[in-house]
Amino acid sequence: MEKSLERVGIMVGSKGRGSNMTALVKACRSGQVPAEVSVVIASGAGSDAEKAAIDLGVPTTVVTPGDRYGERLVEALEGCDWLCLAGFLRILPGEVLQKFPDRVLNIHPSLLPKFGGKGMYGHHVHEAVLAAGETESGCTVHFVNERYDEGAVLLQKRCPVEPDDSAETLAAKVLKLEHQAFAEALSKVIHERSC
Ligand code: GAR
Repeated sequence: MEKSLERVGIMVGSKGRGSNMTALVKACRSGQVPAEVSVVIASGAGSDAEKAAIDLGVPTTVVTPGDRYGERLVEALEGCDWLCLAGFLRILPGEVLQKFPDRVLNIHPSLLPKFGGKGMYGHHVHEAVLAAGETESGCTVHFVNERYDEGAVLLQKRCPVEPDDSAETLAAKVLKLEHQAFAEALSKVIHERSC
């Protein structure tokens, strides 16, 4: 009998474009990742990431932080096997981490443990990489725990930092890698866990 697809929930951030979410949805639809995206959860209505999910025809819901945030997230993720954070910048409530032990993945636009932690997102990361004179950057997919950007690393992809790179050109190079890395990492853990 054919094995049923794993079900993935994706949480997007209110400031995100939703490009990593889009790449994951496409990778699942193409069969690259043996999973289907069951729900996209946005933190606020009207964000670009929420609009992108609606345009893709993925079930989309808004769960705003506040009272019973953890419980409301767990309800919205009912039926999911995995959770992917794609531009979600908060610490996840404990209820969600308990519901998905070692099954929450995050993507970060640097080679962790370098340039991670609270406040390290988007252009802040790439500006810090340039200011530190790094000759290499990239992205990291890691398991999520109760601290910012600290869970075990699953996969990293690297690119050179050129002398004439700006935060924008570096961000564009890294984002391309992110789109490949998230799908590869999710596929890898699903295959490992199903063996
Ligand atoms: C991505 O670059 C992702 O790595 C970053 O937010 C961006 C979201 O872009 N996440 C973090 O910095 C987490 N610490 P997207 O909305 O286009 O996917």
